[in-house]
Amino acid sequence: MKDFINIADFSGEQLTGLLERAVADKKLFRAGELPASCRRKVLALIFEKPSLRTRVSFEAAIVQLGGAAINLTNADIGLGSREPVADVAAVLGRMCDAVAARTFSHETVSGLAEHCSAPVINALTDYCHPCQAMADAMTAMEIFGDLAGRKLAFIGDGNNVARSLAVLCAKLGMDFALACPEGFELEGEPEANITQTRDPRAAVEGASIVYTDTWVSMGQEDEKDERIVTFKPFQVNAELMSAAPKDAVVMHCLPAYRGYEITDEVMSAHAETIFEEAENRLHFQRTLLHVLIAEGGIK
Ligand code: CP
Ligand code: NVA
Repeated sequence: MKDFINIADFSGEQLTGLLERAVADKKLFRAGELPASCRRKVLALIFEKPSLRTRVSFEAAIVQLGGAAINLTNADIGLGSREPVADVAAVLGRMCDAVAARTFSHETVSGLAEHCSAPVINALTDYCHPCQAMADAMTAMEIFGDLAGRKLAFIGDGNNVARSLAVLCAKLGMDFALACPEGFELEGEPEANITQTRDPRAAVEGASIVYTDTWVSMGQEDEKDERIVTFKPFQVNAELMSAAPKDAVVMHCLPAYRGYEITDEVMSAHAETIFEEAENRLHFQRTLLHVLIAEGGIK
């Protein structure tokens, strides 16, 4: 597989293999022993939306592997407006060794992958956020070891991050429970092990991981006032955490909006896990870049 676009494209075995490599590579990197396997390789980064973690982690990762990154905003290239997606993909494939793209439409990233001779990585679309889910699972593996049979409770919007986590949980043999308001469920996910409820306390029961994400995703800013009211009962707070097992960890993809989807108190209590999770974006994506660029794809 040349690209990394959607968790659903891979088997549980392939995903577990990638996660185990990322955990091992992180140790090698910290010991100063990770080979620079992408010397003189160039990663093009396309961002139609803001980013901190994704941009910095991709750029740092390719530099740590001996390569370099070129940042392209939509103002620079006009993806689909100044030039068709297929033409941008054809050109980048001839000049670069990999492309990571964050776009509104998922079809833009899949179109880039289809027409680009180099690997294309999904850096978040409105539909899914596979690199985030993999960094999250990597963090959970470091804490809990084998993840099979464990439960992840997602409290909030059944959007891009929740979708990637739900599919990844199914692939890894984990249970996934989404607690969300009516109309914000995950639609059309064929995977087993997924339950959806209106009751956050029922969702966190027996969960090893309690996860949340913003109530207002990038591109939904016009709906902010309405969403804040709708999602109010779905806050991750101390009261909700009292219904979760004592050893449950809280995760958040960040950026976090304290006082909305998570309280300052819960955020502070679980800051170590949440910022390790952010750091693991770097470690997972460095392994992913190595596999896609230096090894020719995910086998
Ligand atoms: N979690 C995440 O993708 O963060 P950024 O939007 O800052 O890249
Ligand atoms: N659901 C959020 C994730 C941010 C990393 C968004 O799409 O804005």
